Amino acid sequence: LTVPKIRARKTDGETGEPLVMLTAYTARQAQLLDSHCDLLLVGDSLGQVIYGLPSTVPVTLDMMANHAAAVVRGSYHAVVVVDMPFGSYEASKEQAFESAARLMKESGAAAVKLEGGEQMAETVAFLTQRGIPVMGHVGLTPQAVNVLGGYAARGRSDAEADKIVGDAEALDRAGAFAIVIEGVVEPIAIAATEAVSCPTIGIGASARCDGQVLVAEDMLGMFERVPRFVKKYEDLAGIIEKTAAKYAEEVRARRFPGEDQTYQPKA
Ligand code: KIV
Ligand code: NA
Repeated sequence: LTVPKIRARKTDGETGEPLVMLTAYTARQAQLLDSHCDLLLVGDSLGQVIYGLPSTVPVTLDMMANHAAAVVRGSYHAVVVVDMPFGSYEASKEQAFESAARLMKESGAAAVKLEGGEQMAETVAFLTQRGIPVMGHVGLTPQAVNVLGGYAARGRSDAEADKIVGDAEALDRAGAFAIVIEGVVEPIAIAATEAVSCPTIGIGASARCDGQVLVAEDMLGMFERVPRFVKKYEDLAGIIEKTAAKYAEEVRARRFPGEDQTYQPKA
């Protein structure tokens, strides 16, 4: 798959196949998810999911480049998109180009994603015109948690709703090839989707977006507490705990290793 093919996947909200995107941070996770996805996102959510950080704010370019390289090695089909971490792109369009180029060179990823609307439009155009495909991200933008004051859904007031639709339109005009709409009340997510020519990818948004994304670990049930918009399709945390308990019991009973797992001298 290629970025232009993703760009062409605009639906009418009902017919047309929605884009499937999941996060991946490691090579093995990428191998397992790749054939099921159109896009793999090396999200800065790895700050919380992998590193146990309190938010995405402390995530660094080095972290993103290393995990992106691992994901690219594990993927053959999906378009790999890398999040630009907080502080690596906001100061100027030149700073953004330098950071994005580094991410793409060090990882081999096909595109970057950055948070923000209208105020990032010039940067999105600058990168796109210089060979870097950009995915936008509007609505609830977790890197702005210290300004927003939390992770509550956006678009409940008229002013907020207008800003979200305006942000999506500005990114679309600037050349973003797709836009993530996160944590937005459904009618505004639909309005933003209908207002832009590129596909929108929803998370806590609407089934009428042109695609959906979730953090893979959330969807797999690795965490007890997840946002309302997550559907847990499995209980991986439970499976891991049960399996660890079985292993511990066998080690303590000297039932592991058994005959199959030990080497004996040739007879
Ligand atoms: O970092 C991330 O995982 C994301 C998606 C949830 C959109 O930005
Ligand atoms: Na992110």
